[in-house]
Amino acid sequence: MSRLREIKKPIAEEIKAYHKVFRETIRSKVPLLDIIMKYILKTKGKEIRPVIVLYTAKMMGGITETTYYAATLIELLHTATLVHDDVVDDSNKRRGLLSINALWKNKIAVLAGDYLLAKGLLLAVETKNPHLLEFVSKATRDMSEGELLQIEKARKLDISEDIYFEIIRKKTASLLASCFATGALSVTNNREAIDKLWKIGELTGIAFQIMDDLLDYKKTSVTGKPTGIDIKEKKITLPLLFLLKNSDKKQQRRIIRTIKHQNKNPQKVEELIRQVRESGGLEYARKKMMEYKEEAIRLLGDFPENEGRKALEEIIHFTINREN
Ligand code: IPE
Ligand code: IPE
Ligand code: MG
Ligand code: MG
Repeated sequence: MSRLREIKKPIAEEIKAYHKVFRETIRSKVPLLDIIMKYILKTKGKEIRPVIVLYTAKMMGGITETTYYAATLIELLHTATLVHDDVVDDSNKRRGLLSINALWKNKIAVLAGDYLLAKGLLLAVETKNPHLLEFVSKATRDMSEGELLQIEKARKLDISEDIYFEIIRKKTASLLASCFATGALSVTNNREAIDKLWKIGELTGIAFQIMDDLLDYKKTSVTGKPTGIDIKEKKITLPLLFLLKNSDKKQQRRIIRTIKHQNKNPQKVEELIRQVRESGGLEYARKKMMEYKEEAIRLLGDFPENEGRKALEEIIHFTINREN
C-alpha cells in the first residue's frame, strides 16, 4: 500500500475533490440505502481506477470538472460490480471487512449494486457528459459478459488459454481501459490518443487480473487468508492452465476430477496448488503478466513525458507488484 500512497501524494488535493463528488453522488434519502452507502464510504479500496483517471487527465493537459465525474462514475461502477460479485461468488469478505451481502443479505446487495450503477450513469447524464457513457456502458456490458462466461466455464471446465484471456479482458481490463480513455476524454477530443490510451488500459488490466489470480496462490503468506479460493469456485486461471497444458490425458482427467468433485476438500485443493507450483505455472503466469505490462509501458512512451505520465508508469508497475 505504501507505494500507492507515494503515487497518490502529488494529487492529494485532487483526490480530496474527487471524494467530495463521490460522497455527494451516492447520498440517498432512503434510510437503508444511506446506511449501506456510509458503509461503502468507510470501506474504500485502493482507488486505483480514479487515480488513473486523474493522472491520465493530468498527462493530457490538466484535470477538469469532467475528470472528477469520470473518476466518480468509474469507481461507482467498480463498486457496484464488487457488491454484485460477492453475491455471485457467495463471498462474505471484501476489503478486509464483511461484504454487503454478508451484512444485509443477497437481496439487498443486488439492489444496492444496482443503485450504485444507476447513480454513476445518472451522474454522466445530469452533468451533461453523455460521451463518458459510451466507454463506461461498453465496459459494463463487457464485465457482465466476462463474469457470465467465467461461470459457464466453471460449470463445464473446458476453458482454454484464449478463453481465459477473453474472460479477464472483459471482466477486468475493460474497466481499466475506460479509466485511461475517459481520463483523456475529459481534456481532449483527440480520438487517436484516446484509442491508444484505451489499449494501454486494456493491457494494464490484463496484467492486473493475472496478478490478482497469482495472489490467490500466494495468499497464505501475504494476507493470511486461505489459499485457493479460485479453485474452490472452480475458476481455472493461468497457472493452473499451464499445469493442465503440460499434463498427459490421464493427469488432466484427474485434475479436472479434483476441481469438479473435490473443490471443497482442503487437502485435495492444497495438493493441486502444490502441483501447480511445481509445474512452473506461477512463473509462466508471471512471464505473461510482464509481457502485457511491458507493452503497456512501451505504448505510454508515445505520450508527453511529464509528471502525469511518470505517475501512470508507476501505477502500471504497481499493478504487478502489489500485495493486495
Ligand atoms: C478487485 O479490484 C477486482 C478485480 C478486478 C480483481 P481492486 O483490487 O481494484 O479492488 P479494490 O477497489 O482495491 O478493493
Ligand atoms: C472481481 O472478480 C469482479 C470483476 C472483476 C468483475 P473476482 O471474483 O475474480 O475478484 P475478487 O477476488 O472477488 O476481487
Ligand atoms: Mg468473481
Ligand atoms: Mg470474487
